Amino acid sequence: MNRSDERQLLKQCLSLLEEKSTTLSPESHTSPTTRYTDPARFEQELKAIHQRLPIAYLHSSELPEPHHFRTIETHVGSVLFTRGEDGQVRAFHNVCRHRGTRVESRSSGCTKAFSCPYHAWRYSTEGELVSVPFEQTCFPELNKGEHGLATIPCAEAHGFIWLCPLADSQEAAEQQVAQHLEAVSGDLAWLAPGQLHVFEQHRQRWRCNWKILQEGGLETYHFKFAHKNSIGPYFLSNTCVTNQFGAHFRVVMPTERLKEVTEASLADTRLRDITHIVYGLAPQTTFLVQKAHIDWIQMIPVSVDETDVIITSLIPTPREELSAEEFTHWKRNQSISIATLDEDFELGQSIQAGLNSGANQSLTFGRNEGALAAYNRWVEDQLHAFSD
Ligand code: FES
Ligand SMILES: [Fe+2]
Repeated sequence: MNRSDERQLLKQCLSLLEEKSTTLSPESHTSPTTRYTDPARFEQELKAIHQRLPIAYLHSSELPEPHHFRTIETHVGSVLFTRGEDGQVRAFHNVCRHRGTRVESRSSGCTKAFSCPYHAWRYSTEGELVSVPFEQTCFPELNKGEHGLATIPCAEAHGFIWLCPLADSQEAAEQQVAQHLEAVSGDLAWLAPGQLHVFEQHRQRWRCNWKILQEGGLETYHFKFAHKNSIGPYFLSNTCVTNQFGAHFRVVMPTERLKEVTEASLADTRLRDITHIVYGLAPQTTFLVQKAHIDWIQMIPVSVDETDVIITSLIPTPREELSAEEFTHWKRNQSISIATLDEDFELGQSIQAGLNSGANQSLTFGRNEGALAAYNRWVEDQLHAFSD
């Protein structure tokens, strides 16, 4: 994305404003409700999508220096992320090679070695088994070189750490991430999320299918109604520019300030000053891009009708360097984002309850909800490709 792309998007927003319209697909669609209620299908989605594609679990600023670590519950169990002496990020199953105890129980910290709480086998930040109590007497044949923590290939790119369980090496993980993000790499370079810092994180479990939450970010049809008490009055209703980039989506959502933009002021207007932009990055990452910060939203499937949502505010200044005034500013921003997203997620729960009741056999996506239909087509394609 460069200035010319920004201008192009602003012009598209202005055209839609004039037409009182939005990005329209050629036709409306229906979507079977079993996509959201069938537990067997949910398991297939995990295998075909979440366990195959790279997923961002950490922001780079969460492992700022060598020897920093984080433990995270992922779809492949508890994972220990470390930044080694060499600055490289590595990911390991957080499972001791002796008898399987969880090696590190803290969620984050800084250490040069991890000691298993059961019999104190010790591992380096590179995952090597470095010491075993009573090794000579009790494990005379143990080859420590073959008993390091089990590695999960991961890659650091665009300011995030991506887990790639199916890659067979760090290099393969890097290639897989680059390939997965290729279609949006220009936009990610423009956003530069690697230059931001984690402010705060908010986690909550919602009783609805993960796709319902993803779909909620792909249209602005609901803004004036569902968000009438929060952000609705500040945005154009049912007006957005939607683009699909392979597995990923971008939705540019103009605020009322678009009405002040003229042909003359267009060249000096920054896209982020007068819009919010949602990036839906397959399979479970959403960025809500605002003027100076990004809310990174992870939607982690738990069961067919449960999803954990983690909202992480990424801001331009490290948290510890904020003045009291800046802290209050970002805290207020975070509260507004969470309150607004909660409105979406509560509606998501309402949808799931409705679908579970069996009242409807299908959902209807209008031409203004074409991205939702396209998103579901992408999911279907993944399921078919996996079963072939
Ligand atoms: S299970 Fe970890 S040291 Fe025994
Ligand atoms: Fe919304």
